[in-house]
Amino acid sequence: MSFVLTTCAVGAEAVLRRWMPEHRGWRAAFSRPGLITWKVEGAVDAGLPRPHPLFRTWGVSLGFCTAAPELGKALDQLEAPVLQVMAGEAGPKGHVPETVLERWEADVRRVEEEIRTCWGARVRGGDPAIGEAVLDVVVRPGEPWMVGWHRHTRERGPLPGGAWELAPPADAPSRAWAKLEEMIRWSGLTPGKGESALEIGCAPGGATMALLDRGLRVCSVDPLPIVLPERLRQAPFLQHRCLIEKLPRDQFPAAVDWIVVDMGLSAPMAVHHLARIVPRYRDRLQGLFVTLKLNEWTLVERLPELLDRIAAMGFDSVEAACLPAFRQELGVVARRR
Ligand SMILES: C[S@@+](CC[C@H](N)C(=O)[O-])C[C@H]1O[C@@H](n2cnc3c(N)ncnc32)[C@H](O)[C@@H]1O
Repeated sequence: MSFVLTTCAVGAEAVLRRWMPEHRGWRAAFSRPGLITWKVEGAVDAGLPRPHPLFRTWGVSLGFCTAAPELGKALDQLEAPVLQVMAGEAGPKGHVPETVLERWEADVRRVEEEIRTCWGARVRGGDPAIGEAVLDVVVRPGEPWMVGWHRHTRERGPLPGGAWELAPPADAPSRAWAKLEEMIRWSGLTPGKGESALEIGCAPGGATMALLDRGLRVCSVDPLPIVLPERLRQAPFLQHRCLIEKLPRDQFPAAVDWIVVDMGLSAPMAVHHLARIVPRYRDRLQGLFVTLKLNEWTLVERLPELLDRIAAMGFDSVEAACLPAFRQELGVVARRR
């Protein structure tokens, strides 16, 4: 019998508690908003693939801890792991006051300092390399820390919580900049200079900015306006101010390398639109970056069917994950070989 420590967006716990026992045989053991531990038959591989797209982080659970000296037993099992202390989720992303987030982050810094002072070189800093052990400590103010460990894989970013080091431009108008950049880093795909993108649902323009800053030519479709900053006024950008279903055939770009979709519509509607658009672009298209909004968390139960529909549009792999910048939604990356 083993235990697995997972984190997820606040609100996703109930669907996971239903899905995991039925499909993986994992039984929920301990639960907090945004955190679930699971009882699992047999041993668990610390480098296991993301067990469900809704998990933000996952790894072998090492139980509770209330003070740094108690980590001795955990550290005896691991060879100088990279220490990653992270705040639990204080509430649904976007709905937690800044002051609360700051208090939780202050707690994280205090706990990290306490552990490093106590254990010195037994825990390392910096980014983990692929395959290296990471000691995860999840901190929720006023509660014991939850401790676990995982082996770093390409499936998550190298920072605590599976995040990537992102530097959104000061003039980025929305968090969609971070969502697209996370999907790009997660996938290892490299949309870049000389390539083109069709973007559906572009306002207020965060993802457009990410694409233009990467040197792509961008054709965007959205009835709402976007205003690019002065520095991008000469960038190769064209917007059609209408709904995608109203765009006349001859206004679609002839060929594109990438399609980016973030329409704020429920996941099945977004896939419905994709099914009408993607077949036009079979020749040159390399991949899709899609935000699938889960109006209800239970919509995730339709995810296998929706991903199959996307794959059937001509992609060799389609993956979904609730990456750190995502709220009640999933990032989906589809690629051709
Ligand atoms: C979440 S926002 C997009 C955020 C944007 N990607 C960014 O980077 O800032 C959703 C957008 O989709 C647009 N939208 C909704 N339905 C659409 C449709 N049928 N065709 C085109 N755009 C649509 C909305 O007008 C809205 O601006």
